[in-house]
Amino acid sequence: MIIDPRTFERFNLILTGVVVPRPIAFVSTISIDGVVNLAPYSFFNAVAYNPPTVVFSSSRKAAGWQDKRKDTLTNIEETGEFVVNVVVDDIAAAMNATAAEYPSDVSEFVIAGLTEAPSEVVKAPRVLESPVNMECRLSQIVNIGEQPHQHGLVIGEIVRMHLREDVLYEGPNGYRVNHQALQPTGRLAGNAYCRTDDVYELIRPNYVPEEAEQTAGQPAD
Ligand SMILES: Cc1cc2nc3c(=O)[nH]c(=O)nc-3n(C[C@H](O)[C@H](O)[C@H](O)COP(=O)(O)O)c2cc1C
Repeated sequence: MIIDPRTFERFNLILTGVVVPRPIAFVSTISIDGVVNLAPYSFFNAVAYNPPTVVFSSSRKAAGWQDKRKDTLTNIEETGEFVVNVVVDDIAAAMNATAAEYPSDVSEFVIAGLTEAPSEVVKAPRVLESPVNMECRLSQIVNIGEQPHQHGLVIGEIVRMHLREDVLYEGPNGYRVNHQALQPTGRLAGNAYCRTDDVYELIRPNYVPEEAEQTAGQPAD
C-alpha cells in the first residue's frame, strides 16, 4: 500500500504505529497560580548535546473538550519551565492514570499517587518515583499545523538532571546508564507498550579512507 497522508483516513494511527517504540516524557509543570500538573508525551526525544536539548510535541486542544487547551503547554508558555521525568515500568500504570483530560485545577500527582520532589532550578516539582528527572528551561515553541489540529513543539534546554544512583555504572570512559536497572518503558501505538529487557549489541563500523583505497576494485566477499 502506498499512502498519501493528506487523504488517508486516520493517518495518525499509521504514523504512531510505525514510529516505535517511543520514549515517554512524563512532563511536570506548575501554573502561574501554583497548580501542579503532570502528563505523558510520547512525541518526545533528545535532539542535541550542547546545549543539551529535548523536544516534545503537544496538541493544543484537549480531546473531548470544547475549548480547553492542554495544561502542560499552557503552563510552559506562561512559566517557561518544565521537568521531564523518564517513564519506567514501575510507574507505567501511574503514568497512564494521569493521561485523562482532567480539569486544570486537578493535580495528576494526587490522582496517580505519585510524590512531588523539589527541583533545584525550576519551580515545577519532579516525580520522586521516576529514576531520571530533567529540569528544563523553554528555548522555544514551534507551532506545527493549524487549529483545530495544531501542535506545539516544545524545545527545552536541560538545566539540571537528577539520576538515581542504581541506574548508573562507571565505564572505562565515565558514567554510563544501566538499562537493566533503568527499565525504560516504550510506547507502541494506542494502549500498547513494551519493555526493554531483550537488548543486543551491534558494533559500529569505522570508515578508514586509506583502507577503502587499498580494497577499491576488489570483489566483495
Ligand atoms: C503514553 C501516552 C503518550 C502521550 N503522548 C502525547 C503526545 O505526545 N502529545 C499529546 O498531545 N498528547 C499525548 N498524550 C495525551 C496526553 O497525555 C493527554 O492529552 C493529557 O491529558 C494532557 O494533559 P494536560 O492537559 O495536563 O497537559 C499521550 C498519552 C499517553 C497515555
